[in-house]
Amino acid sequence: MAAYAQNDLTAVIEADRAHLWHHLIQHKPFETVDPRIMVEGRGMRVWDATGKEHLDAVSGGVWTVNVGYGRERIANAVRDQLIQMPYFANSAGSIPGANFAEMLTDKMPGMTRVYYTNSGSEANEKAFKMIRQIAHKKYGGKKNKILYRERDYHGSTLATMSAGGQLERNMQYGPFAPGFVEVPHCLEYRAQIETENYGEWAADQIEEVILREGPDTVGALCLEPVTAGGGVITPPDGYWARVQEICKKYDILLHIDEVVCGVGRTGTWFGYQHFGIKPDFVTMAKGVASGYAAIACMVTTEEIFEMFKSDASDPMNYFRDISTFGGCTAGPAAAIENMKIIEEEELLDNTTAMGARMIDNLLALQ
Ligand SMILES: Cc1ncc(COP(=O)(O)O)c(C=O)c1O
Repeated sequence: MAAYAQNDLTAVIEADRAHLWHHLIQHKPFETVDPRIMVEGRGMRVWDATGKEHLDAVSGGVWTVNVGYGRERIANAVRDQLIQMPYFANSAGSIPGANFAEMLTDKMPGMTRVYYTNSGSEANEKAFKMIRQIAHKKYGGKKNKILYRERDYHGSTLATMSAGGQLERNMQYGPFAPGFVEVPHCLEYRAQIETENYGEWAADQIEEVILREGPDTVGALCLEPVTAGGGVITPPDGYWARVQEICKKYDILLHIDEVVCGVGRTGTWFGYQHFGIKPDFVTMAKGVASGYAAIACMVTTEEIFEMFKSDASDPMNYFRDISTFGGCTAGPAAAIENMKIIEEEELLDNTTAMGARMIDNLLALQ
């Protein structure tokens, strides 16, 4: 089905070339070549300004449009919500905000509280701030270090880059925030050693770092369930079970960054659910509303939430933080429809089936 409506976009291309600063790209070539402008999308296909059709195999370029393009029911839900009540600071609640929080935590046994933000980086920063505040509340400020893994990415802000395991992204942007410590990657293909149980060995390297730093200084470990942008690194067998054990052993909070893997990308609602582990914080963004509206969430447990309301008479004893656009209602309104589409169309099963088909086809090329 042709979805592209022919238009003269010369003026748009000129405006883009004259005024836009695109993300993550070197601009010199645009002095002689037109920048690519995406104009329309339907299902898994997108059309650029020249009318060229593309198969969007990476969900909007960065793993975002989980339910595909042209979903009118999401657009309608957002429109209706914007007319009724577009925004109010999230110190108050909203109808879609409460409803989506309930739907979401229903998919995440053990997790009960949702904190809305507007980007994956920001969701991660919220978790980092909570971890630091817990260190102050419970451990006199000492247990404040946050461990992150080589090759993982957690965002573009300076604090999340301080937890960034990709050297090529971080170079020239330092100095970074103190209190973030790297642990080794778990990529078996580039295994640091030959061993029978590489997964456990790789997890044990985290323990080595904890012991080197001093367990009483380490507050949290932040990991992607499957490293995404850093190379799509599937954790080896035995890795996650051992990671969980290590966190328990040293009283270290486990923060899982589901910004890419969350909301169905790996065939379960969340990537961590493949491994039977129990996180303390889960952050998500991209696929939460498939890019139809900006929304990100920091989700945690009742146990963590309780810590921030334990002494109401202490003026410092709550999470003293706000995200202005965390009060936008378009995000949760879109996220509700997004989740319903995934359920009604059984997209989790489809993801698993398509993943198996793709790997079979790739293996056939060997
Ligand atoms: C794993 C992971 N975490 C966090 C982020 C940052 O999200 P955002 O770009 O919405 O700030 C990204 C973005 O690519 C990501 O891949």
